Amino acid sequence: MTKETVTASSRLALRGDLLDFTGTPAWGALDDPAVRFRPDHWLLIEDGRIVGAQAEDPDARWTREDHRGRLILPGFIDTHVHCPQLDVIASYGAELLDWLNTYTFPAEQRYADPAVAHAGAERFLDALLAHGTTAAMVFPTVHKVSAETLFEAGRQRGMRLLTGKVLMDRHAPEGLRDDVEQARRDCEDLISRFHGQDRLGYAITVRFAPTSTPAQLAMAGDLCRQDASLYMQTHVAENRAEVEWVAKLFPEARSYLDVYDRVGLLHERAVLAHGIWLDAQDRALLAQRGAQLAFCPSSNLFLGSGLFDWVAAREAGFAVSVASDVGGGTSLSTQRSLGDAYKVQALAGRRMTAWAGLHAATLGAAQGLGLSQEIGHLGVGTLADVCIWDWARGPVAEARFAVARELHEKVFAWMTLSDERNLAAAFVAGVARHRRPEPPSHP
Ligand code: GUN
Ligand code: ZN
Repeated sequence: MTKETVTASSRLALRGDLLDFTGTPAWGALDDPAVRFRPDHWLLIEDGRIVGAQAEDPDARWTREDHRGRLILPGFIDTHVHCPQLDVIASYGAELLDWLNTYTFPAEQRYADPAVAHAGAERFLDALLAHGTTAAMVFPTVHKVSAETLFEAGRQRGMRLLTGKVLMDRHAPEGLRDDVEQARRDCEDLISRFHGQDRLGYAITVRFAPTSTPAQLAMAGDLCRQDASLYMQTHVAENRAEVEWVAKLFPEARSYLDVYDRVGLLHERAVLAHGIWLDAQDRALLAQRGAQLAFCPSSNLFLGSGLFDWVAAREAGFAVSVASDVGGGTSLSTQRSLGDAYKVQALAGRRMTAWAGLHAATLGAAQGLGLSQEIGHLGVGTLADVCIWDWARGPVAEARFAVARELHEKVFAWMTLSDERNLAAAFVAGVARHRRPEPPSHP
């Protein structure tokens, strides 16, 4: 008799109200065919992948988790967030450039110590998961070890993680500057060890134009040209004083965005944060290059940077995702970012539907990153990065939810009133990586 070598596949079924998107909802539409809502369904997960969804109870071959009355969403994708800045979240009283010098750079200097970088990476990724974010594009620090520890921590958790050592060779304090040649060697080594391994991807990470010499920007563009599968992340046109500084540093460039374009940093895998002070030509260029813009409303409000014009972005035709930008942003909660996004649009006399917001944080972000075959929705074949949320928590939200009638009304109230406390569980590739601790039971 031959020995049985086939291992049983793992089958998990999660019951709840399934919500995701099959396309891009029209701006302003409350009822949209791109919204897929499957109330009280079982999401079927086999060996970490979504294999179906059904209303009928699955048979005994499935391990069942019954979350009836809860919302099941694809894990959120945070397209712009800084790992070391958890330590300076909610720092008082400064605009961007002062905030960087006063709070951010000192916090990042500490990541030269591998022990600090290691502990910081673990704490950060656990915090993302505890907020329902299962995939992210992350800034570590200039130190090679900060990228290594982040990649390792992402690998251990099975997460889709895009990051890369920060490039900065000028206008930064001692201990936070690299140089062109060493930076190139560090990037090449990190790319060879992590890019395309497990669910990790390397992002050429230019902090922002002022902290890189033209030679370093050219080197970064070179790396992107050598391997079109690399991502790129940076900041652009966030703050007026920053924009003026860039104009002085790069007088030959037409605009801040053009500084990046000239060296080949704008491409389909590029994610640029903020873009508040772009002009029409810049917007057209972003669309032409296929780059994605990460709208960071919490940070933009907190640092007083300005109000992003999402409608102009849509009209220009480039992808917009919504990101926390912690520690400029004050929360890792995507719902809080979306609540702020709604208010920023409201100030311009426009309204962002829950569909537009949630799409940008899931399928839209995934498509912008070229990863929608893997993440961003609950379609068959994707990896099961899914989160289970209470619809309402606490008397105020419960009362509001009780009187909500239409689906959009319910989901909009959820988006506006919920946060990480609503998260019951976060699964990454079908493995529970976070569960809300149960309150102690009293006899
Ligand atoms: N521009 C350059 N660096 C940063 C940063 O760390 N945060 C924000 N919000 N903007 C930046
Ligand atoms: Zn940022």
